[in-house]
Amino acid sequence: MTIKEKTIIIYRQSDPKSKPKYERYKVPLTPGMTVLDALFYIQDYYDHTLAFRYSCRGAICGSCGLTINKFPQLACKTQVDPIELKKHARVPELIFGELSDWDKENEILIEPLPNMTIIKDLIVDMKPFWIFYREVKPYFDREITDVAPESSQTFEDARRIEQLVYCILCGLCWTCPVSGKNKNYLGPPALAKAFRFIDDTRVSNEHRKVIYDKAMQENSVSACEKIFACNAVCPKGVMPGTAIDKIRKLEKK
Ligand code: SF4
Ligand code: FES
Repeated sequence: MTIKEKTIIIYRQSDPKSKPKYERYKVPLTPGMTVLDALFYIQDYYDHTLAFRYSCRGAICGSCGLTINKFPQLACKTQVDPIELKKHARVPELIFGELSDWDKENEILIEPLPNMTIIKDLIVDMKPFWIFYREVKPYFDREITDVAPESSQTFEDARRIEQLVYCILCGLCWTCPVSGKNKNYLGPPALAKAFRFIDDTRVSNEHRKVIYDKAMQENSVSACEKIFACNAVCPKGVMPGTAIDKIRKLEKK
């Protein structure tokens, strides 16, 4: 019996300053194999120094975000065979290193997430992501009189924010071209999280104003160019761009 194989091309870079290169690996396919499984195979059988992030393997921790075939996706949620060549008019072309001989039909190309500093191979520096996330104070805070989380909500109130609650902080929406060119832009994930708490009935008016003011400062909502690449790549249907638009509309109320 012949074992079906797939060639995986991986972006390799030993540190932020070294010259990147692409390496090819042949991986034997197993039923249901994900891109994350393929990375484990490569690490186990070819090169144990290959660096990538993961944790849950179940599309819930948000750690395994990668650019797969030029489209940001979760490695643990993306199957190797068949693999869809995703494209979306709102997602810009993502370029990392020089690669002129990629056979799109037969090879899977794996690169890091865009618009972040590469630390090693497929691992990016998420520090700015977390700094901006914390800035909007996306949590309940009794110090400023929030009554949550033990207080109840109506079904309708819960449903209104449900989609936003699904965010797993994977950083795929950092693909936004504004995040690429403006390093001070709060970015779609932090702004989506901001709206999730602005719109939560358990948050006090005082806390809501703190979050809203943060979202309305310079390099925040007003910096969004309504490209909506964030909506196109989000693996959880959070629609951060739509949330940003809703914050913008609050201003006019
Ligand atoms: S909004 Fe979507 S793409 Fe952005 S961090 Fe959350 S889950 Fe990931
Ligand atoms: S490993 Fe947790 S989301 Fe993929």
